[in-house]
Amino acid sequence: MTQNQIDESVDYLNKRGFENPEIGIVLGTGLGQLIDSIENPIEAHYNHIPHFPLATVEFHTGKLIYGTIEGKSAVVMQGRFHLYEGYDFLDITYPIRVMHQLGIKKLFVSNAAGAINLEFKKGDIMLIEDHINLQGGSPLAFKNVGEFGDRFVDMSEPYDLQMRQKIEQIATKEHISLKKGVYASVVGPQLETKAEYRMLKIMGADAVGMSTVPEVIVANQLRLPIVAVSVLTDECDPDNLQPVKVQEILKIAGETEPKMIRLFKELIKEL
Ligand code: HPA
Repeated sequence: MTQNQIDESVDYLNKRGFENPEIGIVLGTGLGQLIDSIENPIEAHYNHIPHFPLATVEFHTGKLIYGTIEGKSAVVMQGRFHLYEGYDFLDITYPIRVMHQLGIKKLFVSNAAGAINLEFKKGDIMLIEDHINLQGGSPLAFKNVGEFGDRFVDMSEPYDLQMRQKIEQIATKEHISLKKGVYASVVGPQLETKAEYRMLKIMGADAVGMSTVPEVIVANQLRLPIVAVSVLTDECDPDNLQPVKVQEILKIAGETEPKMIRLFKELIKEL
C-alpha cells in the first residue's frame, strides 16, 4: 500500500462527486437497509475504484455510497472485506484509509455477532466498549506503516467516549434496550466450537464476530473517533449449543437493523 494509491482512489471518488463527507459508515453482514435513508445517493462499485481490493464473485454488490443522512454528508460502505474471504489485513482496512482521506471526521461501524454473554439475546444491540483481537495479526504490521501514522498506536480508549455516551442517551430516549460490552474478533469463517465459546467467555468477551477490529485499529491510527455496534444474531451457549445457519444470522440481522438505524440516524443528527 502506498499513499499514491490512496490518492488515486480518492481522486476517482472526488471526480464522481464524493465531496467532503463528514461521516463514514461501515455496514455489516445482513445490514443494508440504512442505504434507503441516503438522500441524493451516488454509488461507486468497489470493483471500479482504483486500488480497492478486487471483489470476489459473491461480493459483487459491494459499493461505496455517498449522500446525505439527517442533513449530514456521509459515505457508506455497503459490504466490507473479511479475512475469511482471503483478503489480508491491508486489503480489509484500505477503505478506512480512503474514507479518512476523503475527509470523514467520524466513523460508524456495525457488524453481526454472536452473544457470548448469555444475558444478551439475539435481536439485541450491543454498543462495543472495547475489543479483543483474536485474528492473529495486525493491520499495522507492515514495513512502511510509519508513513501513515504511528506504529505503536495507543488503544487505551479505542471507541470514542463522547459518542458512546450520546448513543446511550439516544437509546434511552428511543426506548431501545442497548447492551454494552467487549467484542472479540476471530478469523472464521467457521463458527466456534463449544470449547471456543467457553474460552471466549473466560477471556471477557460479550460478543464474537469476524470483522470490525482491524478497521477500528486503523481508525485509531488515523485518530478517527469511532462508534461501533454489534447486532446480536445468535446465542453462543456452550452448554446448550444449537447449530446456527447463516440464513438465520442474516434474517435476525435484517430484523434488528431498524433499531440500529434509529440509533445511528439520531446520533448523526446530534453531531
Ligand atoms: N460467531 C458466532 N456467532 C456469530 C458470529 C460469529 O463469528 N457472527 C454472527 N454470529
